[in-house]
Amino acid sequence: MLILVFRNNIPKTMSGNSFTKINGDFKHKDILSLSQFSTSDLTLLFKHIPTMKVLAANAKPSELLAGNIVTLLFYEPSSRTFGSFGAAVKQLGGQTIDIINPQQFSSVAKGENLEDTIRVFEAYGDAIVIRHPEVGTAQRAANIAQFVPVLNAGDGNGEHPTQALLDLYTIYEKFNRLDNLTCVFAGDPLNSRTIHSLMDGLSLYNGNTIYLLSPKELQLSQNDITKFTKKGLKLHIINNGKDMPKTADVWYWTRVQKERFTDLKAYDKVKDSFYLTKELVSQFAGKDTIFMDPLPRVGKIDMLVDEDPRSEYLRSQIRNGMYVRMALMALVLGKIK
Ligand code: NCD
Repeated sequence: MLILVFRNNIPKTMSGNSFTKINGDFKHKDILSLSQFSTSDLTLLFKHIPTMKVLAANAKPSELLAGNIVTLLFYEPSSRTFGSFGAAVKQLGGQTIDIINPQQFSSVAKGENLEDTIRVFEAYGDAIVIRHPEVGTAQRAANIAQFVPVLNAGDGNGEHPTQALLDLYTIYEKFNRLDNLTCVFAGDPLNSRTIHSLMDGLSLYNGNTIYLLSPKELQLSQNDITKFTKKGLKLHIINNGKDMPKTADVWYWTRVQKERFTDLKAYDKVKDSFYLTKELVSQFAGKDTIFMDPLPRVGKIDMLVDEDPRSEYLRSQIRNGMYVRMALMALVLGKIK
């Protein structure tokens, strides 16, 4: 006798609201925005990271996600987010369906719409990780998917919540706190989705000050300045490296987001605005300042800075991306609590 067991036959949310708060329970929730998280949700996630490090160090994959399939649907280029989600699922014994550049290599090229694409991949697996150039697409996908959680791997210049989770963990690991920090976020605060999500995360904690260093054209939008100030962040908008604070806790360098420009001349004008050099480090960094970057580094950090022990971008920040995504996938798929 043939017995059919459908893995995803339970509707994922009764509320129909994709921005559902985590509220201590990740199971089957879409992960679309840092605004779904509270400090205790972050603590819960972080609690699992040491175990994930041990599991990742084992030669054999863990069986936590054995039998699970996760679709990685990436409409925009990616190295770290795609690679670490893939590694995270595989480290835990699961498998991935890798849809890279669907505009060229899937039926999207034939004109298939997002609705149908999502409906198809939710039939094949247990979760969908999506990156897309348009703000709000992850949320749209989450509203379409009836049975599986959708995780936002970056939507245009909107949000990048899982990057913020790994950035927050990297800071937490170094300072053992996420409050009363002084940070410099340099580059492209207007367009950097990683800055937007990280600011959301830091605004959950008291006493955080952020210096946003950028050319005037790339300043954080007035809407965001108002939003984050209301949420309790102390912001300083600066356009000159000379105005950087001495001995901040965190430097977070971002790339000028070329793909968000319609006018390439405007891009050329600002593309190399703030370059992180050994000279800048010796002038402004403290002995405990850490240097972070979501990468790619394109035009912003001198390779001579890599060897500095305070540089975390090619060290813990990369590895934490995999550990954090391991814990997150296991939580969302209900394998750990
Ligand atoms: C970032 C992104 O895609 O937003 N990269 C990443 O996910 N680590 C940053 C960038 O592309 O500049």
